[in-house]
Amino acid sequence: MSAEMKSTEAPLAVPSYLDQAPEVAARFSRLKQRPVILEVRDLSKTFTAPGRSPTVALDRISFQAHRRELLCVIGPSGCGKSTLARLVAGLEEPSGGEMLLDGTPIRGPGSDRGMVFQSYTLFPWLTVLKNVMFGLEVGGQMSDSEAESEARTWLQMVGLTKFATAYPHQLSGGMKQRAAIARALANRPRMLLMDEPFGALDAQTRCQMQSYLLQIWRQVDITILFITHDLDEAVYLADRILILDAHPGRLRELMEVAVPRPRSADQFLSPAFIAARHHLEELIHPRAVEAADKLPVFRMTVVGDEVE
Ligand SMILES: Nc1ncnc2c1ncn2[C@@H]1O[C@H](COP(=O)(O)OP(=O)(O)O)[C@@H](O)[C@H]1O
Ligand SMILES: [Mg+2]
Repeated sequence: MSAEMKSTEAPLAVPSYLDQAPEVAARFSRLKQRPVILEVRDLSKTFTAPGRSPTVALDRISFQAHRRELLCVIGPSGCGKSTLARLVAGLEEPSGGEMLLDGTPIRGPGSDRGMVFQSYTLFPWLTVLKNVMFGLEVGGQMSDSEAESEARTWLQMVGLTKFATAYPHQLSGGMKQRAAIARALANRPRMLLMDEPFGALDAQTRCQMQSYLLQIWRQVDITILFITHDLDEAVYLADRILILDAHPGRLRELMEVAVPRPRSADQFLSPAFIAARHHLEELIHPRAVEAADKLPVFRMTVVGDEVE
């Protein structure tokens, strides 16, 4: 590109990610007044295996999720995202700190937290309907017909009514995850913990699932902790984004997403969206570049054939 062409280019005007339109600022101030559903204080997790040096997966993480907040957790691979989800789910014991759900310490798994993982976790031998009914019947507090009518309500919510009698192998990846969301929500948990739930889906289905999730979230009284390593996904979904650093997993920043709600795919190109995404990239990307610098790259070309 010639110098002349460059000089006529307007500089790209990206607003600060901190700029909030009045309605966005008002929304955040209301959000912070809502009750705290999840309180995480100084949470640490160190894995120790015989003969290996200990891994500090999480190092004194503290944050709160307010009622009906959608909180995303983002960070490079190995920064402790899944460990955080498993701790809140009660599947792992913390090495330090505490977690409170509605003010009560979390000790082990409970039906007050629903989980959706990346890998499909439906029982292959049960129909979609029976999969959703499963948790309801295990609790033993519902009759068969009550459980069925409850399960059907949730299948309707995720648009799977027509597939109630199908088996998981007959569903697409996106449909399986919708069934998993229905199953998690049918137990009426206080929180939904989602660990890269759309990570295995193709780009288009993934986008659709993000929109579905936002639609569902607007209809249900649920607080969501959503783990991802996809920057666009985090900005599109989140009220706030918890950014973690790796080795050891530390809280780097808790960012408010200034993109107005309700969200739609058109907003991907809005200044507020680009500003938020740009900020995340600046936080996360330099570290990836640093890591790449360490690769043992050696030259296999001859002088004079440089790639520009
Ligand atoms: N059960 C385990 N035993 C030993 N180390 C583990 C275990 N689970 C996770 N780790 C380590 O803890 C760190 C964080 O892992 P994880 O939470 O899976 O990261 P992420 O989900 O962000 O990719 C990694 O270094 C990982 O190797
Ligand atoms: Mg993970």
